[in-house]
Amino acid sequence: MPHSPSPDLHAVVREIAEEMRARPDRGEVATYIPELARVDANAFGLVVIDADGTVAAGGDADVAFSIQSISKVFTLTLALGMVGDRLWRRVGREPSGSPFNSIVQLERERGIPRNPFINAGAIAVTDVILSGHQPREALGEILRFMQFLAEDPTIAIDEAVAASELRTGFRNVALANYMKSFGVLDNPVDFTLGVYFHHCAIAMTCRQLARAGRFLAHSGRTPSTGHSVVSAERARRINAVMLTCGHYDGSGEFAYRVGLPGKSGVGGGILAVAPGRASIAVWSPGLDASGNSHLGRIALEALTRRLGWSIF
Ligand code: DON
Repeated sequence: MPHSPSPDLHAVVREIAEEMRARPDRGEVATYIPELARVDANAFGLVVIDADGTVAAGGDADVAFSIQSISKVFTLTLALGMVGDRLWRRVGREPSGSPFNSIVQLERERGIPRNPFINAGAIAVTDVILSGHQPREALGEILRFMQFLAEDPTIAIDEAVAASELRTGFRNVALANYMKSFGVLDNPVDFTLGVYFHHCAIAMTCRQLARAGRFLAHSGRTPSTGHSVVSAERARRINAVMLTCGHYDGSGEFAYRVGLPGKSGVGGGILAVAPGRASIAVWSPGLDASGNSHLGRIALEALTRRLGWSIF
């Protein structure tokens, strides 16, 4: 039986959605993936799912958006499930202090990306998932994982976004080839990048994303189904990497202001985790200078302050 909803949570989420809708400062929508430039900068959605399964939703909670780098949380989870801690031989887990698409550290660090959330690291993780499979099988695996976590088989890839990035993702092509030259990628570069571009192009609503993130908030288990997705220890560690690396060179600022593990995407989404309390998804397409959702971060800051949810 679902518990009775918490009126406070509903009221806070509604208030924040209204406040964010009214703000004139919306950040800049990403344009380097041409298809993302078409998104309405006025959109705003927020969904919080607490430990009882209560869903508090505000604004455009049911409009699908491109999850982009948020997919990297789920590919990291899958790759750790496949190869365990051996993954950390291929990718580090330190903050980069650099933009998400930076190449500079790769030369100094012999092709080993700093962490699984910068583009180079996520491409290396995708390469692990791909190993021994056809791209379409690996992609199917990732998509089915998202559908399973969100308990929603309708989640799909936005092919227009994937095609747009395939045409314009020259930096990622450079990063992948550079890593390949150090022997960090096993598969043909175009196979790995094809899977990477497509998993970044998965489209989800805030409601679906918050559902998919529940296992991270609840020690590796999805409370509604009782499914154990990962061990409590692994959930804790994924959250730690989200806290330190989930917003690239804006990770310190996000931890300082919001105080929760979170992962952003250039589609303007953020998945945030309040351990033991809630899974939270926010979407506002305008970005700040680090490529993270401008109002998404401000909304999460307001939420954690009003509910006292910072982990610190
Ligand atoms: O590879 C890229 O550039 C995009 N598919 C994902 C980048 C991204 O979402 C960075 N996040 N803020």
